[in-house]
Amino acid sequence: MKFAVYTLCLFICLGLADLEEERFSQIGNCQSSERTLIIYLSRTNNTKVLAEIIHQKVGGDLVALELENPYPDDYDAIVKQVAHENETGFLPPLKTKVDMTRYNTIFLGFPTWDMQLPPPMKSFLHENNLTGKTVIAFNTHGGYGLGNSFEKVKELCPNSNVLKGFSMKGGSERDGIYLAIKGDRKNDTKRQVEKWLGEFKLLKNKP
Ligand SMILES: Cc1cc2nc3c(=O)[nH]c(=O)nc-3n(C[C@H](O)[C@H](O)[C@H](O)COP(=O)(O)O)c2cc1C
Repeated sequence: MKFAVYTLCLFICLGLADLEEERFSQIGNCQSSERTLIIYLSRTNNTKVLAEIIHQKVGGDLVALELENPYPDDYDAIVKQVAHENETGFLPPLKTKVDMTRYNTIFLGFPTWDMQLPPPMKSFLHENNLTGKTVIAFNTHGGYGLGNSFEKVKELCPNSNVLKGFSMKGGSERDGIYLAIKGDRKNDTKRQVEKWLGEFKLLKNKP
């Protein structure tokens, strides 16, 4: 009798484990939410807010991309430095190191800088091989759009499954507008992000 009860419990546990595995396997190409990385670059926090919203909706690890030598606080100085880095192809060394073998879905978040992918994101994509992984870019900009940044992501991830990205207007440091994705705009952003992620079934707890 005891044996029968133990066997029954074992079958119930195995069944529950299967159900849980199936729930996670429905999150896009991920086998579990732990295999999703959301890595972002943000100076005035607009892209950070977007990253946090995505994180709430898909789970996984949220990581801020940090440099060995941070950019200057002064706006004109950073604009000049970034333009020079883009002209010369300089890739700023990164403090952030990630074990990419742990992830199979990578969200890349960045602001538009100089109408391009910011140099630190170029560094990240040069340092890390995303072959075979699903890559999804998201962006905030100051009103001039994302430039060629999404094309650059595709170019630097030639062997990845690059899905449709998401881009929206953030702040405009040049005009003294820093964090702009807040209040009603933040709520509206949450709705937009949900719609976008829903397109590839990446929402947590939803088939
Ligand atoms: C160095 C630098 C260059 C920028 N270049 C552009 C640009 O070319 N086009 C644009 O629309 N916004 C540009 N911006 C504005 C940012 O893309 C915008 O404020 C963005 O929302 C900032 O994101 P963050 O708050 O995550 O840093 C630039 C900002 C900086 C600091």
